Amino acid sequence: MRNLTEKNLTQAVLKRLEKTSDPRLGQVLSSLVEHLHGFIRDIEPTEAEWETGIRFLTAAGQICDDSRQEFILLSDVLGATILADAINHRKPQGATESSVLGPFYRDGARQVATAGSIAENTPGEPLIVRGRVATTQGQPIEGALLDIWQSAPNGLYENQDSHQPEMNLRGKLLTDGDGRYAFRTVKPESYPIPNDGPAGKILEAMGGHNRRPAHIHFIVTAEGYEPVTTQIFVENDPWLDSDPVFGVKDSLVVDFVRHHSPEEAAQLQIPNPFYTVDYDFGMVPAG
Ligand code: BEZ
Ligand code: FE
Repeated sequence: MRNLTEKNLTQAVLKRLEKTSDPRLGQVLSSLVEHLHGFIRDIEPTEAEWETGIRFLTAAGQICDDSRQEFILLSDVLGATILADAINHRKPQGATESSVLGPFYRDGARQVATAGSIAENTPGEPLIVRGRVATTQGQPIEGALLDIWQSAPNGLYENQDSHQPEMNLRGKLLTDGDGRYAFRTVKPESYPIPNDGPAGKILEAMGGHNRRPAHIHFIVTAEGYEPVTTQIFVENDPWLDSDPVFGVKDSLVVDFVRHHSPEEAAQLQIPNPFYTVDYDFGMVPAG
């Protein structure tokens, strides 16, 4: 292979990839080369622009550490995460739609009893979240596990905020015999995703903001069913239509109902006024 030109270079690289030992890896790399070369032909970068691109990716790698993953953020703000998610979770009617996992999930949340609280000494508007986990035909699923996490009303997850107790606003909950779950927390608020790195530069260049609409994250698992990673969003949040990570779906936008009733509050042992939100999860058989 010599004297390669703009015209025959791509073919030459693809030819070399024919010997890739793992067929799937060969397919992935071939497609990557075709698209990468197509991209370069499309934009015809100057050498200075190419170097800027390399420096950008280097900076993304350098800002990563145990609690910061800039490549996930980049994938999120470019819509790649939610596209891969859509391809992997083509759901039938009645199944809960998925959304991005995001970078703030931590395994190891404590188990919370039904109607227990995931918030520890966290100022905010009291909220009860409740509903059912069921099949798409409405059959209750007992023993489904809900792994829940959210930011505090100050917009920070506990692992971003040294003032919050360890694992605050995270919890694991099991459904009862009727597939029901319920827990207490505080009403989430919209919050900014980190914009002090390369992903933030992209957002800024797009002229976009970095506020995610208020939401609560869930991973729901049940034996024999596809796990669901999703979020529920607060209806009427002003950022719903411009989520920087493209994660909002109508079916996940829910009415957080405000109650002002001392009697009801006393019955539920919650400060007045308070909010409730009802959300049912629809699970699809695994396989
Ligand atoms: C989140 O909702 O936690 C999140 C998702 C994507 C990027 C940043 C944050
Ligand atoms: Fe979040």
